[in-house]
Amino acid sequence: MSRWRGSDRAAATTRRDRHPRPGVRGAAAAAPARPAPGGAGAPAGRPRQRRPVLSVEGVTKSYDMGDFTVRALRGITLQVERGDFVAIMGSSGSGKSTLMNILGCLDIPTRGRYLLDGIDVSSYGDDDLADIRNRRIGFVFQSFNLVPRTRTIANVELPLAYAGMARAARRRRALAALASVGMGNRAEHLPSELSGGQQQRVAVARAIVTNPPLILADEPTGNLDSRSTDDVLRIFADLNAEGRTVVLITHEDEVAQRAKRVIRLTDGRIMEDRRVVPVRERLT
Ligand SMILES: Nc1ncnc2c1ncn2[C@@H]1O[C@H](COP(=O)(O)OP(=O)(O)O)[C@@H](O)[C@H]1O
Ligand SMILES: [Mg+2]
Repeated sequence: MSRWRGSDRAAATTRRDRHPRPGVRGAAAAAPARPAPGGAGAPAGRPRQRRPVLSVEGVTKSYDMGDFTVRALRGITLQVERGDFVAIMGSSGSGKSTLMNILGCLDIPTRGRYLLDGIDVSSYGDDDLADIRNRRIGFVFQSFNLVPRTRTIANVELPLAYAGMARAARRRRALAALASVGMGNRAEHLPSELSGGQQQRVAVARAIVTNPPLILADEPTGNLDSRSTDDVLRIFADLNAEGRTVVLITHEDEVAQRAKRVIRLTDGRIMEDRRVVPVRERLT
């Protein structure tokens, strides 16, 4: 059972909280103009053409180690539609994190193209990429990556501080995000005072506080017991039901079974790409 689906969660997910607000854009003022969703010239009155939110085209990634080259990705082509919940599976060393880093604009391909919302990210400079990561992508990692000796609320406020949001608004948004993951009563705790599962829920709150349409999670349940794993997966399912796209890396079958689509990597290649649940269906 998910404990936090009581009143504090309901209070946190008002419509205001689900949709981007001008305030969050703060630092984004200098971002380049983007085409309208659905593409310029999409005819009015017709359903929008569904452009993939992620499009990976013939991507390779090699690491030159001097004497030899590690070919971490050997030609990945992959589209992800808005609202999908994709599990990327594969054994250790199969290239999952390398792919995730490219999807998250943390790294660039050696060859091939990566389009985020239809735009080739190689056309962006470092500042724009940082801005895209801050506003459009929520990251969750296996090791939580909370700032130590820093209270929960301050950890969650951090992305909003980077975005230039004023203090009071920051606090309000961070508290709502914490409430939405059932951690509203842990705002003043330090990470060291929380269990692993609780720390990961705080990390999820931090990932969603800017209201990003895309959540990227690299083995988010890798350090959690089964109860906490369940809690975190339930939150991801809820976020997905709100319309967010989720890409989750895992090597656990039980975790992948909770996704709408499962992609399996072997030695830097996609060996399987299986649709389990339609994109627009709600996960239970
Ligand atoms: N920065 C790096 N430098 C050199 N080799 C790397 C680097 N990052 C990853 N690799 C290698 O690329 C391959 C894929 O790694 P990774 O994407 O981390 O796999 P996974 O996340 O599936 O365990 C591995 O062989 C790994 O050793
Ligand atoms: Mg990895």
